[in-house]
Amino acid sequence: MLTLDYANCLADRVGTHGLDPDLLHPSGSAAKAIGAATRKLNASRGMNWERWRDLHRDPMRAEHTREVKRLVERFKSTGGGGGCENLVVFGIGGSALGNIALQAALNPPTHNLLPADKRHGPRLFVIDNVDPANFGAVIDCCLATDPKLEHTVFNVVSKSGETAETAAQFMVVRDLLRKHGRKGPEHIVAVTDPAKGTMRKICDAEGYATLPVPDGVGGRFSVLSPVGLFSAAMCGIDIDALLEGAASMEGPTCREQLDQNPAAMLAFLLVELGTSKGKTNHVMMPYANALYLMADWYRQLWAESLGKKTDLAGGTVYAGFTPVKALGTTDQHSQVQLYREGPNDKVVMFLEVADFGPHQGLTIPKGLGVEALGYLEGRTMAELLTAEKRATEYALLESQRPNLTIRFPKIDAFHIGQFIYLWEMVTAYAGVLLNIDAYDQPAVELGKQATFGLMGRAGFEKHLKAVNAALAPHGRVIG
Ligand code: PA5
Repeated sequence: MLTLDYANCLADRVGTHGLDPDLLHPSGSAAKAIGAATRKLNASRGMNWERWRDLHRDPMRAEHTREVKRLVERFKSTGGGGGCENLVVFGIGGSALGNIALQAALNPPTHNLLPADKRHGPRLFVIDNVDPANFGAVIDCCLATDPKLEHTVFNVVSKSGETAETAAQFMVVRDLLRKHGRKGPEHIVAVTDPAKGTMRKICDAEGYATLPVPDGVGGRFSVLSPVGLFSAAMCGIDIDALLEGAASMEGPTCREQLDQNPAAMLAFLLVELGTSKGKTNHVMMPYANALYLMADWYRQLWAESLGKKTDLAGGTVYAGFTPVKALGTTDQHSQVQLYREGPNDKVVMFLEVADFGPHQGLTIPKGLGVEALGYLEGRTMAELLTAEKRATEYALLESQRPNLTIRFPKIDAFHIGQFIYLWEMVTAYAGVLLNIDAYDQPAVELGKQATFGLMGRAGFEKHLKAVNAALAPHGRVIG
């Protein structure tokens, strides 16, 4: 089970920059607020906008895993002997960040470099941008390793099918497959809305295999749906254990008692430190490279869900906190100077791992014989990493900087499932505490509409005009 250590967020450790421990007393105001929030969240269970809370439960779990495994069987053998060599996922935001995070957490960082018999699936590329150099390089790599594109599968993930970036990527590869004499349905699998939307229409017309993004599951809450499950299962990740982990976090995150509910406690600490102590930057700092891109997934969840101008009563609140990612130990040599001596406006959330698996015992050898480095001899790298994390925690405390630690017994699919569900519930709690809608993203629309206008999409002429007026030529450019 993951554990949460929050002692360093309290005033007895970080003085006036922390919360008064009495606030957390079972009869205190926090417990009352959390009790009410828990009852509200328990009551909204089953509402359409919160269907993500049921992805690890039947019937969705059984349906999704069955369909995902069926398509994995089919697409793993794409091209016959040798099977699928390259899997390229197209998606953006909630349709990509979870896929990237799962792969980084649960497969070795060298996955794509390993020979086929040492990998648990195809090479995986998740392209979430329309940078032509990046996109082109991945396609070049697919062609270099599979010149006839016989053994390459493209997984288009788009709930709407309207997302310009994903649509553009899809259109390029559809054409590329045709030019190589390949049939789309043998190489394209889409994850999209089961009933409506542009991608659904395309899939129906062209006969692509599809998996559902269930109704009521928003992009940033969709990693435990086929959105994240298909590419994970293709690459050998145990999706049953992932969902089992999520299921095991459900009970603890529904408890009414603040001190027994890790999601409620995290939400309360972060919201309270943010709103009453000015700690509006929330830094996730894993001491494990495998978890670094989980922090990227968290950034979207936290930013897009909580960054809201208005609350549910219609008041202007400008809610939200800035999520930041850092990596221990790397960022000790890059960010910690700022975290200790810059503005005291952050909460640092360490992610610590007890067991690094097969490499846990990697030992720094004896025998160099240099006095200054003698203390390292015979110690494991894991010991050094853990010591550095503890040292950073201490250094932050010395500067009265609030911080907390989430501990993983080990990094495996079960505990990653726990972590994902935990943070989704933290976000839901934070939304209730801030009295905002955590499930919409109205501010994302204007940029999308302006792009449509600039790219000449019919119906968006007024957006083009507005962009050109706002960004009228001027002389304030140097160089
Ligand atoms: O969290 C969200 O809702 C967004 O990040 C979406 O996932 C993203 O915009 C992609 O949308 P779509 O899946 O419709 O292409």
